[in-house]
Amino acid sequence: MDKIIVEGGRPLKGEVKIAGSKNAALPILISSLLTAGMNVYTNVPDLKDIQSIKLLLSTLGAGIETDGGTVRINAGGLCIHEAPYDLVRKMRASILVLGPLLARLKKARVSLPGGCSIGARPINLHLKGLSRMGASIELKHGYVEATTDGLKGSEIYLDIPTVTGTENLMMAATLAEGVTKIRNAACEPEVVALADALNQMGARIQGVGGTTIAIEGVSSLHPVSLRIIPDRIEAGTFMVAAALTRGDVKILNCEPDHLEAAIHKLRLTGLGVKIKGNSVRVQGQNSIASVDIKTLPYPGFPTDMQAQFMVLMSVADGLSMISETIFENRFIHVSELKRMGADIIVSGNTAMVKGVPNLSGAPVMATDLRASASLILAGLVAHGQTTVSRVYHLDRGYEMMEKKFAQLGAAIKRVDP
Ligand code: EPU
Repeated sequence: MDKIIVEGGRPLKGEVKIAGSKNAALPILISSLLTAGMNVYTNVPDLKDIQSIKLLLSTLGAGIETDGGTVRINAGGLCIHEAPYDLVRKMRASILVLGPLLARLKKARVSLPGGCSIGARPINLHLKGLSRMGASIELKHGYVEATTDGLKGSEIYLDIPTVTGTENLMMAATLAEGVTKIRNAACEPEVVALADALNQMGARIQGVGGTTIAIEGVSSLHPVSLRIIPDRIEAGTFMVAAALTRGDVKILNCEPDHLEAAIHKLRLTGLGVKIKGNSVRVQGQNSIASVDIKTLPYPGFPTDMQAQFMVLMSVADGLSMISETIFENRFIHVSELKRMGADIIVSGNTAMVKGVPNLSGAPVMATDLRASASLILAGLVAHGQTTVSRVYHLDRGYEMMEKKFAQLGAAIKRVDP
């Protein structure tokens, strides 16, 4: 298993290009199941999760061609309605095939994703919404078995504004009979990107980006050609890296509007953040002021940036309170950061981080994607060498992360022991 070795202490300088968004690409590639014909997607990131979803789609009968960042998918041959355990367990987002399979084939058998290291992550709201649209759902032998005579538009209230739940229901509703209203819907840019893709395919979706989404069902959708939006979490991760190493980095090909909460907090730390079109220049300062954060659904501070921000607070001046309100177990990086000298106390869903002058390099490992990214960030600023194991988590969601850091001047390499 690969490891990443970082020699800390070098300020990052230069320009970095942000890849397409993982969490936008996953549902959009899956939305190809809703139509026969060739869909063409560009700016698709080269990630393990994207490979997993392509494997799942081809298992279902879709034809897939990949040429660099361009992926062509033709689901004209969609014939299988089962997403098996071995594929779903590798990537929870596989549950997103449930809505499209029901809409197109009127039946679906999808393995229950189960919990993951950051929380229990139930899918009850996906299932409740689909039942309200007329699906019969049973849980058998670890699988969701769903059938329908035809989905019907319905009023759905989500107890929590779940991102993939909103996406699953929105996709199912595009081909349902009548109007579906999803209330307390997720407002994340990735939900908006999916709705834009569906509307370009001929769907009638309104209100997306707000908390009530109305979807008027249509009888069929047509294929689409589109570009995946930039990955806001990758961009935010590089912003934190520039701040941490007191560097000067221009982050290109990003969407600053999607990063408002993170940019706001970074500016409060005293960091220079300059926005120009689709680029953000981050100029680190010697002293980093402590600020508190609380993760919230968009447009609040993203949970996917919490671990990275905690590293920044670990070397800030003073005390920071970090509250995680989205996932119940998203402090798994804390014990590893403490091994690197961070002063952090966790009580319930709040971490109290007292900035220390320096972190020290150490062998570390993490069991989730963003936690792994945070350990690389910690390694970039720590004194001495940090070895991050289990980097397959990182490869699920960051394209060539160590190469991009190396181009910015970091002493970082991947080794295959
Ligand atoms: N929840 C329920 N019931 C449901 C669905 C969700 O109780 O039916 C709860 C979850 O347990 C959690 C909260 O609602 O406590 C929010 O979860 P949500 O469903 O919004 O998360 P998700 O859709 O499973 C997506 C991203 C995550 C990101 C979260 C929050 C994708 C593929 N994944 O997950 O991304 O953290 O939204 O923004 O879009 C990552 O990229 O590292 C990642 C984990």
